[in-house]
Amino acid sequence: MILNSRIAIITGASRGLGAATAEALVQKNAIVYGLARRADDLKVIHSNLGESFIPIPVDITNKPEVDRWFQTTFSNRYWPDILINNAGSGNFGKIDELPFEMWQQMVDTNLNGMYYITSATVPYMKQNPKTCHIINIGSILGTTGRTESSAYCATKFGLRGFSESLSYELRYEGIKVSAIHPGSIETRFFSESGIKSHSNMLQPKDIADLLIHTLETPDNMLIDEITLRPLNPKKLT
Ligand SMILES: NC(=O)c1ccc[n+]([C@@H]2O[C@H](COP(=O)([O-])OP(=O)(O)OC[C@H]3O[C@@H](n4cnc5c(N)ncnc54)[C@H](OP(=O)(O)O)[C@@H]3O)[C@@H](O)[C@H]2O)c1
Repeated sequence: MILNSRIAIITGASRGLGAATAEALVQKNAIVYGLARRADDLKVIHSNLGESFIPIPVDITNKPEVDRWFQTTFSNRYWPDILINNAGSGNFGKIDELPFEMWQQMVDTNLNGMYYITSATVPYMKQNPKTCHIINIGSILGTTGRTESSAYCATKFGLRGFSESLSYELRYEGIKVSAIHPGSIETRFFSESGIKSHSNMLQPKDIADLLIHTLETPDNMLIDEITLRPLNPKKLT
């Protein structure tokens, strides 16, 4: 895909990997609708990136709010080309200690929110004559279990099955679906999720560059899944 003038939707665009990906896409002259709950954080990104970044304060767990935004933004003549399902929530703890609300928040954001956004996007992509691309940001914890991570793993394993099934379903509609499973990334995710960070984590910009490469592959090439991790997460930098 040539990214110039393409229309992208990125969830969780207010910081971390989502913000880095928004920046990388704007540098490629794409138009980015950046979704997140915190309007102030989105405004800062908008002032840094300019008019090509359109801030959309939306909670992806609120289906009516999501549907309203799609209906007032897209039409049968204005379609998204790219969807990056990046917004995610992570909380860790023993199964008998993790508060139910945290389980619910992870399922609501990582699975239900992704479903609301994707199911609203696909009808527009099906009308788009150009090849479209959906990228779902999973986690290495969607490929392997980890102690005190059952809820987060359940959502990210779920994302993996969702992506693979969707990829088979949408390939003949000219819509690619890729799942990316990163290891630890240096973002606020760690400080807010209650697990220990490492000294040498993956950098959001480097993963954003990988996403750009994945999007720029020829139309008839599908990268369906990538797992990536720091080579030496404990190295002192
Ligand atoms: N950091 C890591 O080590 C790591 C490793 C593997 C995979 N991942 C995955 O990578 C993705 C990005 O993570 P990150 O590290 O960049 O996390 P982050 O810094 O915590 O950012 C999360 C983003 O998601 C948004 N968000 C959360 N809930 C939302 C909701 N209900 N509606 C709309 N937006 C919402 C947040 O914005 P608001 O709070 O303003 O809504 C924020 O922009 C996530 O899916 C995460 O699971 C992260």
